[in-house]
Amino acid sequence: MDITILGIESSCDDTSAAVIRNTTLLSNVIASQAVHVKYGGVIPELASRAHQQNIIPVVDTALKDAGVAPDKIDAIAFTRGPGLLGSLLVGTSFAKGLSIARNIPLVEVNHLQGHILSHFIDLPDHDMPHPDFPFLCLLVSGGHTQIVKVSSPLEMEIIGTTIDDAAGEAFDKCAKVMGLPYPGGPVIDKLAKEGDSDAFSFAKPHVRGEYDYSFSGLKTSFLYTLREKVAAEPDFVERHKADLCASLQRTIIDILLGKLIKASKESGIKDIAIAGGVSANSGLREAVAETGRRRGWRTFIPEMKFTTDNAAMIAVAGYYRYCNNIFSDLGVSPVARLEEIL
Ligand code: KG4
Ligand code: ZN
Repeated sequence: MDITILGIESSCDDTSAAVIRNTTLLSNVIASQAVHVKYGGVIPELASRAHQQNIIPVVDTALKDAGVAPDKIDAIAFTRGPGLLGSLLVGTSFAKGLSIARNIPLVEVNHLQGHILSHFIDLPDHDMPHPDFPFLCLLVSGGHTQIVKVSSPLEMEIIGTTIDDAAGEAFDKCAKVMGLPYPGGPVIDKLAKEGDSDAFSFAKPHVRGEYDYSFSGLKTSFLYTLREKVAAEPDFVERHKADLCASLQRTIIDILLGKLIKASKESGIKDIAIAGGVSANSGLREAVAETGRRRGWRTFIPEMKFTTDNAAMIAVAGYYRYCNNIFSDLGVSPVARLEEIL
């Protein structure tokens, strides 16, 4: 029997709704919030208000694009966390309302599991390659940096995580220091293409945990390099922007890959996926593919539209929970931190 699921994502600054039939994506609508750009970061209260304005038109468009009437939805999946509480509340409340109105099950989804399960989305015109279980997923976003061992759609184990900043945060914070707009990742990615990645070298961390990451030292090292250079040459950043971006990006990629290679070597797992906002980074995508060729990995690199936050990944994650009869009751509340949902 076909299962049709409406997915809702509202954890940060994108309001998104998607419709999936089994694992085939019928629609995926994303309203990005431009309001945060001028502040150089996401302002939680403004994000909640924008979600509130966006959610009905976004869901409406997703249903129309999919050609699915509201009474043909079998369940509603929503992001319970982690994320910004006020933002999550909008999606959660909407999902509960629809669940009551249509008398359909409510399925909570962990946002990070959603990113990982984006590798199981199929498109109507072609099936996507899916990793075999178990596989390793490097999950890199604005708030998290993890190596996850994925044994099934519902069994995931975090084997490495960041002890301070996330990789996306390193991109965003260093971009801010250079006076670049938010979010910094895509801008650095673009500028890095014209720069020399060997022009500067920054501190690389030594973290005790076998597969753990740290990015705050790199951020500090970047800041000090900049301060020193700008003191001697006020227009330094302007003149060396591309080289700075290329060198920073190279360092982040080296750090990410170092632990991933180690995890693959020691676990013997050679199906390797990347997911999350930073997996949109062209340098990281190339480096993972190239490392894969050298090491005999099968690599899974998501289509660009499934890298940053989207409801398609929430819908597909919801599908697997639905198939395993894992439902949430109306008492469910959103959670800001990952530790509260694990
Ligand atoms: O997964 P995501 O959309 O939201 C979170 O769950 O955090 O990730 C957002 C992060 C931001 O830090 C953004 O700078 C980063 O992903 N990002 C990139 C690129 N595109 C987005 N980082 C590096 N290169 C990119 N092309
Ligand atoms: Zn995300």
